[in-house]
Amino acid sequence: MIMEQSSTPEIVRHVAAGQLCCDPEWEAAYKRFETPEQEIAKFIARLKRFGFDSLDRQSRIVEIFCGRGNGLVALQRMGFGNLEGVDLSDSLLEEYRGPARLHLADCLDLPLDENAYDVVIVQGGLHHLPDMPGDLERSLVGVRRILRPGGRFYVIEPWKTPFLVFAHAVTELSVMRKLYAKGDALAVMTERERVTYEQWLGIPGPIRETFDRYFHVESWKTTWGKLAAIASPIKK
Ligand SMILES: C[S@@+](CC[C@H](N)C(=O)[O-])C[C@H]1O[C@@H](n2cnc3c(N)ncnc32)[C@H](O)[C@@H]1O
Repeated sequence: MIMEQSSTPEIVRHVAAGQLCCDPEWEAAYKRFETPEQEIAKFIARLKRFGFDSLDRQSRIVEIFCGRGNGLVALQRMGFGNLEGVDLSDSLLEEYRGPARLHLADCLDLPLDENAYDVVIVQGGLHHLPDMPGDLERSLVGVRRILRPGGRFYVIEPWKTPFLVFAHAVTELSVMRKLYAKGDALAVMTERERVTYEQWLGIPGPIRETFDRYFHVESWKTTWGKLAAIASPIKK
């Protein structure tokens, strides 16, 4: 049986609390977009598609930009126990319940040990970085540094495919926003993060070039409005 903790999480604070990477309205929309159980089910399906079923359960895993940590709950339910998460929002980290060690930190300057992790995961974080592609490069250099040789970086981010363009056109219709709560939450999140989101969607070429500079890209799939990539670090 899986024991899930109800006590408050252990958070190592590397930066001061109360930093605003995403505003309170964005956080509120993010929380109502999906329930925790819907998120966990989505993450488990995603991790299975990435092949996590066959990964060593002792793997040391860190999820960067982990938000309220439901990706870590998904990993825990799949049997992984050596888990950490990093996010800049203390209010989101405090919602996590589970055994993972959390770091309140900026993913541009990961305060984690070098060559220490088997797996790094990001699910919808890189597109929040304000200064592109420079911030992407800074964060990829950090991920490469903390991954051990042969480790893997698993990436899920939005990607401008015809489906994404269609989904935004539909959710931004005022009638749909009234009828469909999830669509409204998505529209609010998109509005609040529009600058970084559109910047990210607008530079697919430089994004791929930046990955190729620091990683061997093993898989790069762009379907249904998402990039799903697996990469291993190029160690100097
Ligand atoms: C779209 S949420 C994704 C959260 C989680 N991965 C998920 O899928 O539910 C993006 C997260 O990135 C965090 N974030 C944004 N900029 C950050 C930075 N520079 N360093 C650390 N976290 C950051 C936000 O606080 C937010 O929790």
